[in-house]
Amino acid sequence: MTSIHATSDNLSTLTADALILGVTADGAISPHGQLDDEALATLSELAGKLDASGKVGATTVLPGVGLAAKRVVLVGLGDGTPTDLRLAAGSAARECGKEPSTVVIAIEADDDGIAAFAVGALLGAYRFTDYKSDAVMDDDATDEDTGTAWLVAGASADTLKRASIIAGAVAGTRDLVNTPPLDLFPGSFAEIAEGYAGAMGVEATVFDVQQLAEEGFNGILAVGMGSARLPRLVRLEWKPEGAKQTVALVGKGITFDSGGISLKPPKSMETMKSDMAGAAAVMHTVLGAAQANLQIGVVGWLCLAENMPSATAQRPSDVIRMYGGKTVEVLNTDAEGRLVLADGLVRAIEENPDVVLDIATLTGAQGVALGTQTSGVMGVDEIRAEVVAAADAVSEPMWPMPLPQHLLKQLESKVADLQNIAGPAGGMLSAGVFLQQFVGDAKWAHLDIARPAYNEASAHGFTPSGGTGAGVRTLLQFLENRANA
Ligand code: BES
Ligand code: MN
Ligand code: ZN
Repeated sequence: MTSIHATSDNLSTLTADALILGVTADGAISPHGQLDDEALATLSELAGKLDASGKVGATTVLPGVGLAAKRVVLVGLGDGTPTDLRLAAGSAARECGKEPSTVVIAIEADDDGIAAFAVGALLGAYRFTDYKSDAVMDDDATDEDTGTAWLVAGASADTLKRASIIAGAVAGTRDLVNTPPLDLFPGSFAEIAEGYAGAMGVEATVFDVQQLAEEGFNGILAVGMGSARLPRLVRLEWKPEGAKQTVALVGKGITFDSGGISLKPPKSMETMKSDMAGAAAVMHTVLGAAQANLQIGVVGWLCLAENMPSATAQRPSDVIRMYGGKTVEVLNTDAEGRLVLADGLVRAIEENPDVVLDIATLTGAQGVALGTQTSGVMGVDEIRAEVVAAADAVSEPMWPMPLPQHLLKQLESKVADLQNIAGPAGGMLSAGVFLQQFVGDAKWAHLDIARPAYNEASAHGFTPSGGTGAGVRTLLQFLENRANA
């Protein structure tokens, strides 16, 4: 198991696979009070010879000359802001050797800086090896993560606890996103959610197909009925005593999106195991709120379905009566996310939460508009601004986007109340306008994390390739801001 603790020991005598030290803008090692003068002088000489850079995330690896540590990872701290420290830590964590058992961090920074560095290091060290036969195994030869013991100089226990909760929520989300759809499907996802919830004081309710049918969740059913693995809706609730408000979170959980009868081309399907990233983010945010004992009610809704083409799949031109009664003509079965989310949103809003956020890998158009790293945020102005502010505070790239009301015209169906696709222009926005038809006057925002949720490129900073955990840090910050307001 990965663990993180404070240390006040002398850094020269600490046994570790790696010791991470910072380099400032002038190329000098940022001296740490727990490193003795002699060790600092030796390392400074080596750093000087190798022109160690203070540029954010630049790494220089030295042998641990005169130290108990095997190696020293020098990392440029850039401007020393939490944003730069988080990024730098991610890069440093990837230079600590394969499966290090102990890593020491000794960065000169204030509490916020150390917190950001700790989160960045834990996130940068993430690996997904569940399906590698040659991955390092524990003594009992299970596939449990063997983990690293992190020791952080000059840190408070509270700071490190918070960092490990945040990093754990992101890593858990990444694991789910990376898990192949053979193993992660609506039923198994719901069981995983129930298992975690039970262990963490979160109440879980699973709606199976029979209940979904009885209560009219026909958006979720229509999307899920083409698969042999039937859909689920999961409700998770963290309810601390005396909480003054409740935030509802609704996540798109398409465990695989083939497109359905409107089948995707093969290339576009390769990353579609990530189409449940919103639901995974919601689940781990609720669990994180519970672990952190945030004094705010949180209800998470996981809208789980596998979108498959088959003899039982929905067809283009089918009309479904959504939860709450609105009818939708399904002209493209690949625009399935908005169908499951609309059911989830209407159900979530029935309970009168103070705010409702949905998070979804909703449109390819998100990537066209904002690229692979910046998520789009739409909704009620005030809530959209609150989400973007939370994102800014933790340096997750998110940008406010509009919901142009002229697009509603394109969502008008000849036979039903709405159709599920609009014209090609502004695809992220028309998806948002579609969802808007289901939220009434709720204080709502929608996060489209389509491309940011899955990194198809190689690792950078604290972001690995594959599942990224996009949105989790923002959602936790959003909740924390409200809980402490
Ligand atoms: N899951 C996809 C969106 C997506 C695309 C996520 C690429 C991540 C990367 C979604 O269900 C989808 O297929 N959207 C369609 C909507 C269209 C049919 C209106 C799209 O974006 O092409
Ligand atoms: Mn789709
Ligand atoms: Zn999808």
